[in-house]
Amino acid sequence: MARGRFIALEGGEGAGKSTQAALLSAWLDSLGVPHLVTREPGGTPVGEAVRSVVLERTDLEMPAQSELFLYLASRAAFVDQVVRPALAAGRTVIADRFNLSTMAYQGYGRGLDLEEVRRAVALATGGLEPDLTIFFDVPVGQGVDRQRKGGLEPDRMEREGASFMQRVRDGYLALARTEPKVRIVSATGSPEEVHENVRRLLVAELPETFRLDTV
Ligand SMILES: Nc1ncnc2c1ncn2[C@@H]1O[C@H](COP(=O)(O)OP(=O)(O)OP(=O)(O)O)[C@@H](O)[C@H]1O
Ligand SMILES: [Mg+2]
Repeated sequence: MARGRFIALEGGEGAGKSTQAALLSAWLDSLGVPHLVTREPGGTPVGEAVRSVVLERTDLEMPAQSELFLYLASRAAFVDQVVRPALAAGRTVIADRFNLSTMAYQGYGRGLDLEEVRRAVALATGGLEPDLTIFFDVPVGQGVDRQRKGGLEPDRMEREGASFMQRVRDGYLALARTEPKVRIVSATGSPEEVHENVRRLLVAELPETFRLDTV
């Protein structure tokens, strides 16, 4: 059986990752591509336990290194128990955030050394990288406005404020230039416009899976 494709959706808060994941999933359904949409912790028991500390316990002060390793503790279980089995079974995996988030948030955002973060990420994932990472780029203010309208409680990252978010966005843009298999899609348009561009990108980048006649 052919291995499934692994696609990561990335971007700052309110960029529209989850919205685009849902639109992409509907398109894959119409193409008959077996897939799953995941978001860390992805239902792993280790990941759920970690999540309750790293995102929800906003009262806990912690060093950036602790934050990094908590995320990566979750990532290791997610890769081992969710992503690799799905890919091996021939399913395409759409991950709502993955390794680029760690580089952007804990590297550029928190200021940890990027090469050290990269090595820690590789240790956690056993070297697994997406076939394609899509970075949804939106100005920080626009993303925050969208989220505010959504009305959810801010998590640890969302409480960090504008200068942190700006470092994260600049980091993503730098990473999109230097990391392999990362493409930028502007996320300032309507959800449908952004999704159109996602379709075009996938057909261009992964034509074996995503067919032109269906765009
Ligand atoms: N292109 C868009 N234009 C306007 N609003 C949008 C667009 N995409 C998503 N939204 C809205 O903005 C809010 C945030 O979108 P979404 O949850 O998809 O972002 P996200 O990147 O997953 O955010 P988070 O980082 O919090 O997970 C939602 O209320 C959503 O309906
Ligand atoms: Mg989301």
